[in-house]
Formats: sequence, structure tokens, C-alpha cells
Amino acid sequence: MNGDAICAQLKESMRNGARFNALLEEAVKLVHESVDRFHWTGIYELFPDGMLRLGPFIGAPTDHVFIGVGEGVCGTAVKEEKNQNIPDVTKLTNYLACSTETRSELVVLIRSGKVIHGQIDIDSHEVAAFDGNIEAEVEKVADYLAFHYDARAAQRSAA
Ligand code: SME
Repeated sequence: MNGDAICAQLKESMRNGARFNALLEEAVKLVHESVDRFHWTGIYELFPDGMLRLGPFIGAPTDHVFIGVGEGVCGTAVKEEKNQNIPDVTKLTNYLACSTETRSELVVLIRSGKVIHGQIDIDSHEVAAFDGNIEAEVEKVADYLAFHYDARAAQRSAA
């Protein structure tokens, strides 16, 4: 996967007037389609009430539309302020199963320094589907989205 190429496509869409929600949707689509073994890809956004809420996603529908900080892999990423790369989800006791087929999961935070906006969550049916290189490429996309979360916040406070 090539995070820079994905960011370049997203930039082009923004130049052509894409709105923020369309940006998130396109980011999910491009990340999802970049690697065959990504079987579920979505964005959870962190709301001021401390809950993660499911945004755009591709893959099987999940019951986990709201996830509290500290819950499951997604909530742990926020609590620990750290990406989570779980090679075998069957080894976890706090895993929130989205699909029984999922074997590994990667959560990359969308963050601006200490401020966490949300996360990109990817599930795979394969064990250990995510290496450090993939994490770094997903991080490029997450950083690009973080830049637009900041821009949106600045616009809102200026309004
Ligand atoms: N497995 C996640 C829940 C989200 S689903 O994978 C889409 C977790 O444990 O937080």
C-alpha cells in the first residue's frame, strides 16, 4: 500500500471541492482497496462525550457502532493514545468481535499531537495481516485526515 499516493488522490478531491464527509468516505475506500487482505475498513470518530462512533466503513455491518474509551481494541487505542496492531485477535480478552472471521486488526489513530480525532480501523481474516510498513502507510493517511480535522475545527471556531 502507498499512503502518499492515497493522500495525493484525497488532495485532488479536496481541490475539486469535496466536503469533509466525502473525504472520510474516500479515504476508507482507497485504504480498503489498497490491499486484498483488508476485509473490513472503517473510521471511528471520537466525540466530545468520550465515545467512538462509527463513521464510513466498507465490509460487513457491525454491532459496534459506539465504543467507549478503554473498550475493545478501538477504545484501548484511545485510552493508551497508541496505535494497536493485533496479530491474533483470538488471544485478546477484551476484543469486540465485528465478524467471527476476523483474525487480525490494526487501529491507527487520527491525531494532532495529543488531540485524538478518531481512528482508522482495519480487520483482516488473515492472522498477522499488518506489518510495520502497512501501519506507517496507514498513518500517512491518518495524518492527512488529522490535518483536515484541524482545519474544520479552525473554520468552526472562526464562524
Ligand atoms: N474489534 C474492534 C471493534 C470494531 S470492529 O472490528 C469493526 C474492537 O475490539 O474494538
